Amino acid sequence: MKHFIAISDFTPEEIQHILDVAVQLKAEWKQGGNRPILQGKTLAMVFQKPSLRTRVSFEMAMHQLGGYAFYLSPDEIGLGKRESVADVARVLSRYVDCIMARVFDHKHVEELAAYSRVPVINGLSDYNHPCQAMADLLTVMEKKGRLKGLTLAFVGDGNNVATSLAFATAQVGMNFAIATPPGYELPQAVVEKARALAQRTGSRILTTHDPTEAVRGADVIYTDVWTSMGQEKEREERLKVFPPYQVNAALVALAKPDVIVEHCLPAHRGEEITDEVADGPHSVLFDQAENRMHAQKAILAVLLAGM
Ligand code: CP
Ligand code: NVA
Repeated sequence: MKHFIAISDFTPEEIQHILDVAVQLKAEWKQGGNRPILQGKTLAMVFQKPSLRTRVSFEMAMHQLGGYAFYLSPDEIGLGKRESVADVARVLSRYVDCIMARVFDHKHVEELAAYSRVPVINGLSDYNHPCQAMADLLTVMEKKGRLKGLTLAFVGDGNNVATSLAFATAQVGMNFAIATPPGYELPQAVVEKARALAQRTGSRILTTHDPTEAVRGADVIYTDVWTSMGQEKEREERLKVFPPYQVNAALVALAKPDVIVEHCLPAHRGEEITDEVADGPHSVLFDQAENRMHAQKAILAVLLAGM
């Protein structure tokens, strides 16, 4: 395993291994005993977009495992503007042991990986958000005690987060149902790739425009913002289309009684999710946010410490 760019790049065994390492490292952390497995290792964190969770969870993950992480702001290095993406990769990778990047254009994280001497981790692109999906799986595993055979229903925009979830669920044998408004479906290539992965693990993928169809009998309901970073110009138009896809108490009531509700955050409360659901008994939003740190510790441990 060299880079961490997309969940679809790995085998089901590799994904399960990262989850197992995450469980182990989280248990050690809970007992107050972080092992300094990343002592002397450094992580550069390149951001073209804002972040709370990704930035802080990666920084704390490195710190707690004995390593060092530093933040490079959007204006600071001008990725692809002040300097070519390839040159940034060539230079940064002479200084650090790992690069994490949050970019607008997915091609840029692939280009960083192509020209970097050290592992590159995708901290979100317009295409996907693989670190998020690992934390999401970890959270489901903790709450449900298993993954295989469960159904995750994604309601909202067929966006970067939905893309990584389609791959992640397929990799672990979870069924994936996604309800989007017409015109906001997952890209066809993503559905095909996810279906190919799902064939290997025996899981099912359903795409629909009907949120009630997606959530009926679901073990997990997932939603995300209707307008992602970089799409701000479309916000007004999207606000007209998406309200029937709100995750509210009436929709949650159609799923299994013990359904859990996930959201990658940040949430636009009152839009894609109501306060009642976000703060209600089914919500696991903040465990999920915490699990970003544990899942990413595992990704770093596998890439940098050969765990
Ligand atoms: N979920 C997530 O990636 O959050 P941030 O944008 O705050 O990093
Ligand atoms: N889909 C959202 C996720 C934020 C973590 C975005 O790209 O803005």
